[in-house]
Amino acid sequence: MTDRFLGEPCPVELQDDGERLSVDELRARQLAGLQATVRAAYENVPHYRAALDGVGFAPDDLKSLADLSRLPFTSKHDLRENYPFGMFAVPREQVVRVHASSGTTGRPTVVGYTRGDIDNWANLIARSIRAAGGRAGDVCHVAYGYGLFTGGLGAHYGAERLGCTVVPVSGGMTERQVDLIRDFGARIIMVTPSYFLSILDEMVARGIDPAETSLRVGIFGAEPWTEQMRTEVESRTGMHAVDIYGLSEVMGPGVAQECVETKDGLHIWEDHFYPEVIDPITGEVLPDGEVGELVFTTLTKEAFPVLRYRTRDLTRLLPGTARPGMRRMEKITGRTDDLMIIRGVNVFPTQIEELILGIEGLTPHYLCVLTRPDRLDELTVQVEAAPGVTDHAGVGAALSNLIKNRIGISAKVEILAPHALERSLGKAKRINDRRP
Ligand code: DLL
Repeated sequence: MTDRFLGEPCPVELQDDGERLSVDELRARQLAGLQATVRAAYENVPHYRAALDGVGFAPDDLKSLADLSRLPFTSKHDLRENYPFGMFAVPREQVVRVHASSGTTGRPTVVGYTRGDIDNWANLIARSIRAAGGRAGDVCHVAYGYGLFTGGLGAHYGAERLGCTVVPVSGGMTERQVDLIRDFGARIIMVTPSYFLSILDEMVARGIDPAETSLRVGIFGAEPWTEQMRTEVESRTGMHAVDIYGLSEVMGPGVAQECVETKDGLHIWEDHFYPEVIDPITGEVLPDGEVGELVFTTLTKEAFPVLRYRTRDLTRLLPGTARPGMRRMEKITGRTDDLMIIRGVNVFPTQIEELILGIEGLTPHYLCVLTRPDRLDELTVQVEAAPGVTDHAGVGAALSNLIKNRIGISAKVEILAPHALERSLGKAKRINDRRP
């Protein structure tokens, strides 16, 4: 990309100690953190003791970072089996907060934080907002959901820590979001990219030009979004759109953050989280640069340490740029659960999004519908036309041709009227699986 506009880097004086570590210092800190974490997990969490005993690994065996690959993986299943507090490594009384996943597909996963964990988390979010281009004194509008979801409260404590004026709106009541952004002069917004699109639509419906607001930085995450979406948002608003990544099992938002001056993927805050990328089928650790499933081991967490947690997110590790000591992860392509296999071809919703955003007259409001009419999976892409676009057949044909030529599958395309698809207030649902 040539015409991307990049933001002001965070000056070194504003960076914290962790960000400024040399690679050697970082590796030493990681090893110490890993040793302490493995020991605490072994001594305090029956699941980890059994898992490590099962492979004949004692905490003292951990002599180098390379030894990590001998430890067993942890999966969401393990967390569910230990519902609610079985994975805590400290007495419940020392846990000052819990968060939980929604549990739509089984028991919820519960995670816990000590006071120290909350403190670290706030510091990492503060670091992330600075890297994104935010500064102390900015008005920061938090539209991630508050509650059991980690997005709202996680962002909130970090923005306060940085010294922002935090507006804790949570998701929903889109009209009011627009009022508050305008009246309070938000410079930063933290929100899912899909919900931000709804906020933009609301601005347009009210005759407000999104390029004329006070917003300068959008810190978007909690769901996959594409470079094409970045271009779309930045060109409509004149603001910087940067990516924030995290998951509740590892902490919440702020595990990795894209720096505004490079916008080239997310720096993993490696002084707190050790990343690996594995082959999702064999479990083999892949060299940096190869795409696979992201796995994290926490290095500083007290209440809820995780050893080799399988995220199911697909990406690859790249060398650091804006923070040279820390590796980057490429923007997430999708989750292994979101992989659609259409007549043997692997497709992620993000690939469809990229193509949709290349067509004038289509909007990023879309849904992939899976059906199985004759024992073979079929994909129908439903996508909303932009207001005023009447040639639905034309844009539909353009999209199905692109899908055929670029991805190599035949998909049905249904062009819908603006606002026909249900909007989400948080994470967008991109797949509707209607297969038997
Ligand atoms: O979504 C934490 C979060 C909140 C991250 C706000 C960023 C901003 P969970 O609900 O546990 O936690 O969902 C974690 O969401 O494994 C990814 O599949 C997906 N995800 C999170 N951030 C990104 C991102 C929060 N930037 C799951 N890009 C993760 C792509 C993301 N996917």
